Amino acid sequence: MSQIFDPKTTSTNGLVEFSPDKTAGKELVFYHADEGQPLATPWQVALARSKLLTELQLPEGYILDCACGSGIQLGAHIALLQRPGIGVELNPARAQASAVNIQSIANYRNESTADYFAQTRILSGDGRDGAVVCASIADHFQFQSMPSIAFLHLDPARPRNSRTHGLNEMAPRLDEVFQGWKKHLNHGPAGPSILLDLSPRLSHQQRLDVEAMVDQVWQGIARTWVWTSRGRGRIDRLALWLGGAASAQHARRFVRIPPTITEDAKVVSGGLPIKHGDGIPQQTQKTPQRGEYMTILDAALVESGLANDWISTVTKSDEITWNVVEGRRPQIHHQKPLRIDDENNRLMVQATGRIVALAHTKLMLETVDELVELCLENDISQLTVRAPLPPDIQPKIQGAFDRQLSRRHGRREAFLIQHSGSETLVICVVEEA
Ligand SMILES: C[S@@+](CC[C@H](N)C(=O)[O-])C[C@H]1O[C@@H](n2cnc3c(N)ncnc32)[C@H](O)[C@@H]1O
Repeated sequence: MSQIFDPKTTSTNGLVEFSPDKTAGKELVFYHADEGQPLATPWQVALARSKLLTELQLPEGYILDCACGSGIQLGAHIALLQRPGIGVELNPARAQASAVNIQSIANYRNESTADYFAQTRILSGDGRDGAVVCASIADHFQFQSMPSIAFLHLDPARPRNSRTHGLNEMAPRLDEVFQGWKKHLNHGPAGPSILLDLSPRLSHQQRLDVEAMVDQVWQGIARTWVWTSRGRGRIDRLALWLGGAASAQHARRFVRIPPTITEDAKVVSGGLPIKHGDGIPQQTQKTPQRGEYMTILDAALVESGLANDWISTVTKSDEITWNVVEGRRPQIHHQKPLRIDDENNRLMVQATGRIVALAHTKLMLETVDELVELCLENDISQLTVRAPLPPDIQPKIQGAFDRQLSRRHGRREAFLIQHSGSETLVICVVEEA
């Protein structure tokens, strides 16, 4: 190990890259080095994850992040768990930035005199080498024995512009970290506690390959896959929580980070282990009927394989027809409305409403008049087009609806979708919860 940084005394000397974290209301300014900012975990995402960690029973010891980058996730973990941390970072300037950021987090939380902060250290060196890291810490603090590690966090760097997101491209590699640390992790009743922060773009097969690598070292260890989304239907993070960090009853979790940092994340838990499949529902071609309900779900929720688990919490409809299962607008239709009166559940849908009209026509500028007539018959004052259209046509068609409806006297809000596999357009009225 070349250097050990004490966050209490590390200065910003030589560090030139810094920026306010946008998710922290710009109150936290983080330092980065060598273009480390795109690799860093946004503060709000880091916090949401650390909050989930506080619900677990971790064994005694340090929180370790063996590729800690700018130290943001490590800073959130140690602050919320109130436990000392060890960060390891190959790039010495980033290791220094980590120490500075951990100091900023402690100051921001008025915890600069806390024990956990005083005992935290950042090492610049190879995070794969558990023996050397533990020996360096023991030597630094003059411990009689090796430090005990309660929890391992690993967020490996991935090459930018990688097409394959291959497991061998991760730095450090998972298998090398497992080998280097397996003897040094403290075990609880469920084995060691580990969180692997992986690429959201890993294919189903690559996820299975990660599990196989884990099983080679900790055969049969409990596991929970966690998909995190900050909205717009995108998966921002995919993580595998293992052993003491896994939630024993749940194979999957979907964590929706809310729009503001003061709200708690919405968590959907359930699903089947990924060895049974990707959990994406079966598509059925069944034409929706007037009077039924149509819902466009959050695409990230569907991708996590937990959509049916969530749906079962908000409707008694046992018959859900999946019209579209992939892409930006996954769609279902169902007999009964969804009960989504709370804000968190509302984040799981893009739109939901009752079908009031079906039109067997193509959506074009030329057919807008005919569709506006249908809107007026149904007392609609505003209609959002949620059908796939070329980007240059979409605003023109939406504009045509907006202009024509604004001159009339409807009262209801609606949206329009294209039924997949046919030329049927479906108009749905949004009903107040
Ligand atoms: C994705 S970043 C981690 C970001 C971090 N979670 C944060 O919140 O800022 C991964 C880091 O691993 C570092 N790294 C790569 N190989 C390493 C190794 N063998 N040992 C320690 N760090 C390594 C890279 O320099 C990079 O900064």
